[in-house]
Formats: sequence, C-alpha cells, structure tokens
Amino acid sequence: MPEQTWKSAITDVSGGQICVRGYDIADMMEQLSFADAVYLILKGELPNNQQRRMMEALLVSSIDHGPTPPSNLAARTVFSGGNSLNAAVAAGVMTIGDSHGGAIEQCARILQEWVKKEGTPVELAARIVLEFKEKNRRMPGYGHRIHKRDPRTVKLLEIAERIGYKGRPLELAVALQDELERTSGKDLPLNVDGAIAAIISEMGFDWRLGKGFFIISRVPGLVAHVHEEWTREKTMRKLGPPAYEYDGPAPRAIKK
Ligand SMILES: CC(C)(COP(=O)(O)OP(=O)(O)OC[C@H]1O[C@@H](n2cnc3c(N)ncnc32)[C@H](O)[C@@H]1OP(=O)(O)O)[C@@H](O)C(=O)NCCC(=O)NCCS
Repeated sequence: MPEQTWKSAITDVSGGQICVRGYDIADMMEQLSFADAVYLILKGELPNNQQRRMMEALLVSSIDHGPTPPSNLAARTVFSGGNSLNAAVAAGVMTIGDSHGGAIEQCARILQEWVKKEGTPVELAARIVLEFKEKNRRMPGYGHRIHKRDPRTVKLLEIAERIGYKGRPLELAVALQDELERTSGKDLPLNVDGAIAAIISEMGFDWRLGKGFFIISRVPGLVAHVHEEWTREKTMRKLGPPAYEYDGPAPRAIKK
C-alpha cells in the first residue's frame, strides 16, 4: 500500500474490473436501470421494488420545467455567448439555489430534524410555521408561481402512497402545507421541491443530497435545451426581456 492513501467507499478500479459499491459495472450494465444505479451509488445498496419505483418517479419529476426557469435561461444564454455545451450546462447547474431546486435540501433538513422531536405532525407543523413566521422566513418547499396544487407533487404523493410510503416525513410535509395555508390565508402548496424533500426523507436519504437529486434529474433537460439552442438559434440572440429602463445617473464628466 502506498504511504499516503485516502479512503473512498464508492468505486474500486483494478486492471480489467470496475466495481461500484461492490458490484461489477458489467453486471450493472446488464441488469440495472439508471434509477437503480443512481440509488446504488448514493445509498450504497441496491433498491428493492418499492425504492426502485419511487426513485424512477423522483428522477423523472424534475427533468425539465420549461424554457424560462433560471437554469435553462442561464444554459441557453451562456451557449448563445459562444461557449461549449459543457460550459453552458455547468452554468445551468450553477443557478440551482434556494429558490430553484435548492429548496429540496433545506426542506429535507427541516423535515429530518423535526420528525425526531416529540409531537404529532400537526403539532410540529404549528411550531415550525410559528418559528418561521417570527423570523420572517419563507418555508422552503412551499408555494408556487403558477400552480395552486403542483401537479408533480400530486403525482409523487399518489405514487408514494400507492407503493406504501406513509411515514412521519410525508405526514409532516402535508401538515405544514395545511398549517401554512390556514395561518396565511394564501395558496402555499407543497411544491415539487418539497415533495421530493419529503420522499427522500422517507427513503432515508441524507438531506445533504437534496440538491444532488435535482441536479441528477435536471441535467438531461439542460443538455436538451443547449442542444436545441445550438441547432435552432443564432448565437448572441436576444434572450430574456429585451426592453429595459435605465434609472442610474445621467451622463456625467469625471472630475479629478
Ligand atoms: C416559489 C416562490 C418563489 C413562488 O412565489 P410567488 O408565488 O411568486 O409568491 P410571492 O413571492 O409573490 O409571495 C406571495 C406571498 O406569499 C408568501 N409566500 C410565498 N411563498 C412562501 C413560503 N414558502 N412560505 C411562506 N410564505 C410564502 C410571501 O411572503 C408573500 O406574502 P405577502 O403577500 O404577505 O408579501 C415562493 O413560494 C417561494 O419563495 N417558495 C420557497 C422556495 C421554494 O420552495 N422554491 C422552490 C420552487 S419550485
């Protein structure tokens, strides 16, 4: 063994063999779906049928949400500036933050920390909403610009229930929606980020993987958008609203 080593439990590579979490990549290519392989590499074990079905739905749910979210606009804009597909896709990934995809991480953290506390989901939801209100903070994973009920959430929750996920993280996520809407009088639905947060918490994934789920799901969508930009549009085209109003200082001289 070399003098200086560091450890990794993910993949072992030796002459003629690559083993991911102990499974030969050739066997994986023969027998696993992409969702199985993602589950394996993140969790360390192969999924059972329930976990496989849920994983497939999670990965499909965020594959693309139209041309206007920040990630697609950024990817197309960077490509339009004359950069490569990889730079453009990386730019799209870099937009993922608290308001776009990143809410999964924050919401999963809240759910995972609070489900350990004593109290029913309804009691815990009341305490969380009060705490956020006092700090004047928005609840990550709730609210949507367009949807009163997010269709991806509805489908994810329906699949989760059908295949037998009904634990405390999901109960708390739904109780939070009810409490937020009751106390604010507004539509603040559990959005797709919140639903993914609840489900990955049910499945025992660490909240720190939250953004990772969104990135893994969204990269095919970003690649498709950049490819379309490449093959259909002129470079340096006008992306985003072309009109703007200047409200800075009037032209002035530099006085030394
Ligand atoms: C997604 C989001 C940006 C959509 O916002 P929107 O529908 O345009 O709503 P607005 O920003 O205009 O806010 C409208 C009102 O609802 C409130 N609100 C919106 N989302 C809220 C949330 N998650 N928690 C608490 N209050 C919220 C706002 O404070 C605002 O209240 P006010 O009218 O008293 O000022 C917003 O709901 C949000 O920031 N959610 C949290 C982040 C998140 O989950 N992002 C993932 C999106 S898929």
